[in-house]
Amino acid sequence: MTELKVLITRRWPKRAEAEFSARFNVTLNAEDRPLSKSELRQALFDYDAVCPSVTDVLDAEVFSVAEPRCRIVGNFGVGYNHIDLTAAKKLGLTVTNTPGVLTESTADLAMTLLLMAARRAGEGERLVRAGHWQGWSPTQLLGGDVTGKTLGLIGFGRIAQALARKAHFGFGINIVFYNPSAPPAEETETLQASRLDTVEQVLEISDFVSLHCPGKPETRHLLNRNRLALMKPEAFLINTARGDVVDSKALIEALKNNRIAGAGLDVYENEPALHPGFLTLDNVTLLPHLGSATRETRTRMGLKVLTNLEMFFQGKIPPDQVI
Ligand code: DGY
Repeated sequence: MTELKVLITRRWPKRAEAEFSARFNVTLNAEDRPLSKSELRQALFDYDAVCPSVTDVLDAEVFSVAEPRCRIVGNFGVGYNHIDLTAAKKLGLTVTNTPGVLTESTADLAMTLLLMAARRAGEGERLVRAGHWQGWSPTQLLGGDVTGKTLGLIGFGRIAQALARKAHFGFGINIVFYNPSAPPAEETETLQASRLDTVEQVLEISDFVSLHCPGKPETRHLLNRNRLALMKPEAFLINTARGDVVDSKALIEALKNNRIAGAGLDVYENEPALHPGFLTLDNVTLLPHLGSATRETRTRMGLKVLTNLEMFFQGKIPPDQVI
């Protein structure tokens, strides 16, 4: 174990915590309580490395310190929209993330939401649990077919491609997508996927729209009222990316007025305080940011943070350096 001091801001799977503790002088958050901004700021002075997760907002205010002890922020997660990279860079900090290891589990969850939304699984579960189920009926909770439908992906990175494979080869779903740059030709050819020129074109022809773009100022409210209005009335929106890619108010309005058939959400604007308008709607499936939540994936994420820190402190470039 080195004398380098590392703060892990939330509880991680035991194996990841143990391997970290064997290599570094680690402080764990036994209560698993999200840290306040002032605690995060103090951590920059007390530790050589801070390992936050999506619940830790490391904004310009937190980074408004001088000469911190901390040299690296090893984020436990692939998304880093909760970290102000410009402010981190000004302090000379290195920031890393955990791409690759959560691809399949997040794509699995997007597929779960797609199926739950299409087959009204959340509504069915609530009916049974409430003791209101009167027995089988030919017209009860009719959903829509999935096989042979069209899935439109906004963004075509690792997770979108994994979802496309599951949907196409598992469920015979046709794939279209919008991505600013062209992905490798072999990926689109294998999937028989069509790259469309605009987000609007994807929205117009898809039965399911799944969001896979990073959270950043440019993608905030990408799905606004006007774009939601382009979706087919029988279409579903799936979001496992970041909450603020969708204008919540506009989505609630579209769901209320049956402008679209339904939605499956795993992420929210201002989570965990999601817009209360969602809670009373039956045609939305709501999950608590579970995309990467499998034992295996979360362990791999922790071990990936460990590799990044080890490489950094050996004076090498960490494999997942963001800045
Ligand atoms: C990610 O990895 O970005 C997940 O959303 C959890 O932080």
